[in-house]
Amino acid sequence: MSAIEYVRGLFGNEDQLLLDVRQSIVDREMPAISVSPEVGRYLTQLVKTNGAKKVLEIGALGGYSGICLARGLAEGGTLTSLELEAEYAELAHENMKKAGFGEQVDYRLGEALTSLEKLGEEGAKFDVFFIDADKVNYINYYNWALKLANPGALIVGDNVLQGGRVFDPENNDESTLAIRAFNETIATDDRVDSMLLPIGDGLSVTRVK
Ligand SMILES: C[S@@+](CC[C@H](N)C(=O)[O-])C[C@H]1O[C@@H](n2cnc3c(N)ncnc32)[C@H](O)[C@@H]1O
Repeated sequence: MSAIEYVRGLFGNEDQLLLDVRQSIVDREMPAISVSPEVGRYLTQLVKTNGAKKVLEIGALGGYSGICLARGLAEGGTLTSLELEAEYAELAHENMKKAGFGEQVDYRLGEALTSLEKLGEEGAKFDVFFIDADKVNYINYYNWALKLANPGALIVGDNVLQGGRVFDPENNDESTLAIRAFNETIATDDRVDSMLLPIGDGLSVTRVK
């Protein structure tokens, strides 16, 4: 048994609601690429520990991570979720309603970079960011998160091990190169404290100083 199988065995149980969300994604023939169960559980814990009232998610899919983030929100807290595909945002919203968070989420459709620019113009600020969309833009999303961050904000990135491709020197595809650059940036940026956890497909947790 690997370490991650042991961790998942102890902490990876999902309630019926989350299982139903995964099934709804399969039923609609959407990609089954929601966060892993243990990452979902950790997202709730991170939001709770931060005391976050404003959370921004980049990449909604069917709402699995959105529910996990919303479960950690402080009283009166809200989630803003950026998604390219209207059909995905629609399912995510449906699932968020089933989870009791329908009134606390604001979906912004379209290219995340465009939505981020708009949020910047609106003067929006956030306590927790969850980056889980196109890998080539992780650095751009990180730079936007720094601009929109309240002091002490957390910037969390999923899939930062890329199934092991980031530490395979032979692998230099576009997404791998982009995530390698992202990991190197957060590891050395003086403005933040960061750590990369080998849970799920790799989760980076960065705290803005
Ligand atoms: C890995 S999935 C997100 C999974 C979701 N966070 C979860 O765990 O429940 C990536 C999502 O990012 C969206 N996406 C990809 N590129 C995007 C872009 N440029 N702007 C906004 N959303 C994008 C995809 O449509 C997809 O729904």
